[in-house]
Amino acid sequence: MLRRNIELADVEIVTDRLILRPLGLIDLKPIAREFNERITRYMFPTAAKSAMDVAPFIADSLEGLNSNTNFQLAAVRRENREEFVGCLGLHKPHTITPELGIWIAEKFHHQGFGLEAIEGLCEWVTVEIEYDYLKYPVDRANAPSRRIPETLGGEIEDEYDRITADGRTLNIVEYRIYPETL
Ligand SMILES: CC(C)(COP(=O)(O)OP(=O)(O)OC[C@H]1O[C@@H](n2cnc3c(N)ncnc32)[C@H](O)[C@@H]1OP(=O)(O)O)[C@@H](O)C(=O)NCCC(=O)NCCS
Repeated sequence: MLRRNIELADVEIVTDRLILRPLGLIDLKPIAREFNERITRYMFPTAAKSAMDVAPFIADSLEGLNSNTNFQLAAVRRENREEFVGCLGLHKPHTITPELGIWIAEKFHHQGFGLEAIEGLCEWVTVEIEYDYLKYPVDRANAPSRRIPETLGGEIEDEYDRITADGRTLNIVEYRIYPETL
């Protein structure tokens, strides 16, 4: 739940190496290029085959940003503001249990960008959002992703299966991150 009257579409978050800014049309091509089957292995959506697959996601994101109901961000390199690193989101920021999500382009894996981006978003959340806890749902087998909520003090508090858009089963463990641990 937002603490004050702000427009998510105007928010920019700066971390050591990244700028996190609202997702926009400019991100269509990089997402189409980077969002492949290896990235989506443990994710709900299906990989992008072309920019046409990404367009509805961008349109949804813009709608969510404009109605303050879905905070979808692109992470770009701070040094040039242009190089696309990945996407992250705070879904349902208007509720008291918003949900975090992230993916990072393969060439930037294992360099701490995933953790840095989520940490940066959580610092912003601490200031701007009033919430009970943040959800971080992740497939049990997704070790690199699980390390992120674990580093932020999250605990597993729910477990369930989810069927993806293309019929795969994800075995979800849902971490919850409480304000006191951030
Ligand atoms: C999950 C993801 C965002 C992590 O991004 P990243 O920038 O590579 O992660 P980081 O470099 O910040 O590393 C986070 C932690 O995972 C560890 N890690 C990174 N890659 C790993 C791997 N392949 N296996 C095991 N641990 C790994 C890091 O050591 C770090 O843990 P530490 O803090 O204990 O050292 C990235 O792997 C990704 O985009 N995966 C595909 C999409 C996805 O599954 N998204 C999450 C859906 S819930």
